[in-house]
Amino acid sequence: GAAELGPYRHFMQKEIFEQPRAISDTLEGVEQIMPELFGDKALSVFKQIDRVLILACGTSYYSGCTAKYWLEGIACIPTQVEIASEYRYRESVPDPRTLIVTISQSGETADTLAALRHARELGMEQSLTVCNVATSAMVRECKLAYITRAGVEIGVASTKAFTTQLAGLFLLTLTLAQLRGHLTETEEAQHLKAMRHLPSALSAVLALEPQIIGWAEHFATKEHALFLGRGMHYPIALEGALKLKEISYIHAEAYPAGELKHGPLALVTSEMPVVTVAPNDALLEKLKSNMQEVRARGGLLYVLADADSKIESSEGVNVIRMPEHYGTLSPLLHVVPLQLLAYHTACARGTDVDKPRNLAKSVTVE
Ligand code: G6P
Repeated sequence: GAAELGPYRHFMQKEIFEQPRAISDTLEGVEQIMPELFGDKALSVFKQIDRVLILACGTSYYSGCTAKYWLEGIACIPTQVEIASEYRYRESVPDPRTLIVTISQSGETADTLAALRHARELGMEQSLTVCNVATSAMVRECKLAYITRAGVEIGVASTKAFTTQLAGLFLLTLTLAQLRGHLTETEEAQHLKAMRHLPSALSAVLALEPQIIGWAEHFATKEHALFLGRGMHYPIALEGALKLKEISYIHAEAYPAGELKHGPLALVTSEMPVVTVAPNDALLEKLKSNMQEVRARGGLLYVLADADSKIESSEGVNVIRMPEHYGTLSPLLHVVPLQLLAYHTACARGTDVDKPRNLAKSVTVE
């Protein structure tokens, strides 16, 4: 009812704005990195694995895609991410020393549960779920669990569940890194400090809402949009495109920016806005040349830049500057303006934001 919404127009907007609280609850009690964060049996499970296979659907799949960059880059553990409905029906090469990681807001998604059972039948017994519902089938069926504390999520388009999943997956990364000798005490302290800063960092990003509303007015009149990202922000571009298509019904696609010239550049006109996730990382210079390719074809750029990225607004280039530079946790912050962009574009188009046509919050049948 309206009372629960407080000052917000929709549950999705309320849930976007709950993210600082959701992250702080999810990280509550995490004083140090240790296997027990994932359950009593975690140390013994983690000793029996040397690779990770992440299985999930929808937005949860994109949090898995982001985590792959952390797991391989920080914990140096080979990681594969697969859409649950694909994995369960294909021939694959099982390795018993694999940690199966399912990611699910509801813990009841039929394909993700079936994929977990399929992996177990193939002899992969070690399993962990990052899940928002402690009483769900997923939590019962996995040996280990990290329960996110996003709280009940009502909007069909997932927001706070996604960022809390990322927080849980980052903790998993640090834990595996520590066990495998890839995390010094200094690094542990730095990462924990950065995680504790997330709630206030998120609040500062949420304060960009008025600028995002300005972008949304342009997007609302368009029928197509392209999202570009590189590295660990490519899955964030995918998630931004998914959010936009789910609730505004604008056709949106995401590409790793380096692939632009292998196809999507042919579609670029002034009628297709191009969103670019542009944190100040090692790939920024390459991303800038991708952006010039878009401009040269008359494409209009909407750039999410970091505090210290040297990108300025100019004709056809609209820049929103993030308040800080976030380093490794940057995906968790950069997704928030994309959630707000989808939300306000959908509002401007007058769609049923919390209950988009043809979609369900939890898909418990195949
Ligand atoms: C549905 C929802 C999505 C969600 C996906 C996976 O498609 O609309 O928001 O990401 O299911 O759900 P899960 O509960 O497994 O995360």
